[in-house]
Amino acid sequence: PTNASLFTDVKVAVIGGSGLYSLDNLTVLGEINPETPWGFPSDSIVVSQTPSGHKIAFLARHGRGHSLNPTDVPARANIAALKHIGVEVILAFSAVGSLREEIAPRDFVVPSQIIDRTKGIRPSTYFDNGVTAHVGFADPFDSDIADIVMNIAAAQDVKFHAGKTLVCMEGPAFSTRAESHMYRAWGADVINMSVLPESKLAREAEIAYQMICMSTDYDCWKADEEAVNVEAVIANLGANSTNARNLLLALIPAVFSALDNGELKNLEKLKGANKCAVIT
Ligand code: ADE
Repeated sequence: PTNASLFTDVKVAVIGGSGLYSLDNLTVLGEINPETPWGFPSDSIVVSQTPSGHKIAFLARHGRGHSLNPTDVPARANIAALKHIGVEVILAFSAVGSLREEIAPRDFVVPSQIIDRTKGIRPSTYFDNGVTAHVGFADPFDSDIADIVMNIAAAQDVKFHAGKTLVCMEGPAFSTRAESHMYRAWGADVINMSVLPESKLAREAEIAYQMICMSTDYDCWKADEEAVNVEAVIANLGANSTNARNLLLALIPAVFSALDNGELKNLEKLKGANKCAVIT
C-alpha cells in the first residue's frame, strides 16, 4: 500500500500486555505515533501484514520497554489512535493472576465479565467536558469474538477457560491475602491491572473488544503456594507469549473472515449505538 492508505482501514488491532511487546511472523509495513486530543499512545502503533495476508495493528500497552505502570497507560490516547486508523476489532492480551484452582499458570482465559476496582482513579471516558453519554457495558466483552477464540482454542496446545470474571485492581503492588480471598468470594476468577479503562473506552468508541488472559500465578490466596512475585510471573510470561503468537496465527484470519462475512453481530449493533447514549 502507499503511505497514505497504509494507516487507514486497519480493521483489527492486537494490544499486547506484559511479555507480549511485539509479534513475529509479520511483515512490518510501517509505524504511526499520532498525537490525539488525549496525548500520545503508549508507543508507536506497528502496522504489519500477517502470513494470511491481512493488515493488522499492534500496540504494546505498557510501551515496548515496559515503561508504563498500569495506572499510567494512556488508554484514551491508545483507543483514539486505533479508532483513527480504522480499527473495528481489538484483541487484547493480558497477564493475569488466577483466583481458581482449576486455572493453572500458563492456562488461557477468555473472560466475559469484569469487576472494577479502579473506579475514580483512572480517566475512563471520552464523554466529559460537557458531553454526557452513558454507554451500555453490561456485557463488557464481545461474545462473538470470544466464540471464535474458543473454536480455535480447541486445536491449541494450551488449556482455555471461557466465561470467566476478571477483577481489575489498581496496583502496581499486588493484592493482600484478605483482598485475594474477597475477590474469590465475589465470584472473580482472574485478576489483572489492565482491562480498565481500556475495554470501556473501546465500547465508547464502538470497537468490538475481547481480552485474552494468560495466567501467570495463583495470586496470594492459595495456602500451599508462594505468594505472587515478579520472578514467577516472568517465567510464565515467556511461555505464554509463544502460545499467544501461535493462537494469533489462526485467530486473525478467522476474525477477518467473520468481519468480512458480517458474522460479528454484536459489532454491527454497536456501530452508531452511542449516538443514542448522548444526553443533550
Ligand atoms: N497480573 C499477573 N498476575 C497478577 C496478579 N496476581 N494480580 C494482579 N495482576 C496480575
